[in-house]
Amino acid sequence: MANPTPPLSFAAPAPGTNPYLLENFAPVTEEQVRHGGFTVTGVIPPDLDGMLLRNGPNPAVVDDPATYHWFTGDGMVHGLYLRDGELRQYRNRLVRTRHLSRELGTPQPKGPKEAIDGGANTNIVFMAKRLLALVESGLPHRLDAALDTICVEDFDGALASPMTAHPKVDPATGTITFFGYDPFGPPYLRYHEMDPAGNLLHSTDIALDRCVMVHDVAVSATRVGFMDLPIVLDPTMGGTFPFRFDTERGAKVGILHRGRPGSEITWYALEPCYVFHVANAFDDGEDFVMDVCCYERTFDRGVGGLLGTDLARMERWRMSPGNPRVQRRTLDDLTVEFPRIDDAMAQGQHRFTYAVRSARRDGLDRFSGLVKFDHQRDESVRIDLPEGRECSEAVFVRAEDGRTDEEGYLLTVVYDKARHQSDLVIYDAHSMREVPWATVELPVRIPHGFHGNFVPTAALS
Ligand SMILES: [Fe+2]
Repeated sequence: MANPTPPLSFAAPAPGTNPYLLENFAPVTEEQVRHGGFTVTGVIPPDLDGMLLRNGPNPAVVDDPATYHWFTGDGMVHGLYLRDGELRQYRNRLVRTRHLSRELGTPQPKGPKEAIDGGANTNIVFMAKRLLALVESGLPHRLDAALDTICVEDFDGALASPMTAHPKVDPATGTITFFGYDPFGPPYLRYHEMDPAGNLLHSTDIALDRCVMVHDVAVSATRVGFMDLPIVLDPTMGGTFPFRFDTERGAKVGILHRGRPGSEITWYALEPCYVFHVANAFDDGEDFVMDVCCYERTFDRGVGGLLGTDLARMERWRMSPGNPRVQRRTLDDLTVEFPRIDDAMAQGQHRFTYAVRSARRDGLDRFSGLVKFDHQRDESVRIDLPEGRECSEAVFVRAEDGRTDEEGYLLTVVYDKARHQSDLVIYDAHSMREVPWATVELPVRIPHGFHGNFVPTAALS
């Protein structure tokens, strides 16, 4: 892995008392590469062959520590390369957005001159033969296998508006479905389909009457479910993130057949609530079913008004033709976030969802363990982390000989408060044993981030 970009180190921003600049929300201030020699307890499964990639906010420059919010930090991507039962390498790189390059005095990324510049801090995906760092407020940034930024990616000029951090890949065809919401609309929401090589096949506008935050989408084998939920853009609020929960505004989910114009969408109403993340969706005969982590309210308190009164619970939403309402069912009382499935089951009927357990501590949301939902048996099992340890989203990787969507591994990065460093922890998704396959002590800290994926070695080379 050649590395043409010199690694950076920088001074930590003054945290003041902002909790998003303290403890494991604080940025790390050095880009580095570590080769081997990691302390391993247990056994790293030898069939894990690829890189666990994670993205999250790591502010290199903070204009005002009093108002800084987690959602707005500069994106840093962390890569953990597993092969032959070893953690071979760790590396991290800040995504060189235009904004960050300006602040640091480093070369500007190549790409469209007029691109909307987001923080590239939310997800890191391999799709359309590209490794892409994503944030919903801008175009993707394309990285190489060494995690250096190549360019702002507009797919040969085909995409000129923001792209979600949650594109969906059809495991059967490789077709990519994604959307973007746009504060500068109308249109406030656009839907796109792309072939596996990155050629845009279809774009259509979805009519909304104002800009609402649309973080994720539900995609089945034949249809797409768009959520028009009441976190509204309110420019009168000022600040870097002017969104608020609006109880006066209704909420609805729109179902559109893939490949069809947005004018054919059918809307279903529901009570005001909010969903950041969809675990999966599938067709159940004529019904459209989606599993979501749902908040009754959010964005109504806390730093910058961006915390919620409550935490999210797993719900199954069903839209049936002829019934104008979304039929909601809460699956469990546990509060959870960051739902994932075995990606091989995406857009079809999955049996298992994996999420992280959420709790409120010191005014912020913390992740204290893993939860496995069995939708067939309608039950859940969980792994609770010991005091002083906090996990991240768990990425499911099917075992080489795995036959179902529980025969595999859950990879999560765990912050160890006592060491003030992080561990890579690999759990058995089938047994959900509290004793993991392996705990790998990292000589670095990986700040609390958002999303990641496991990319096989073959895809990166
Ligand atoms: Fe997300």
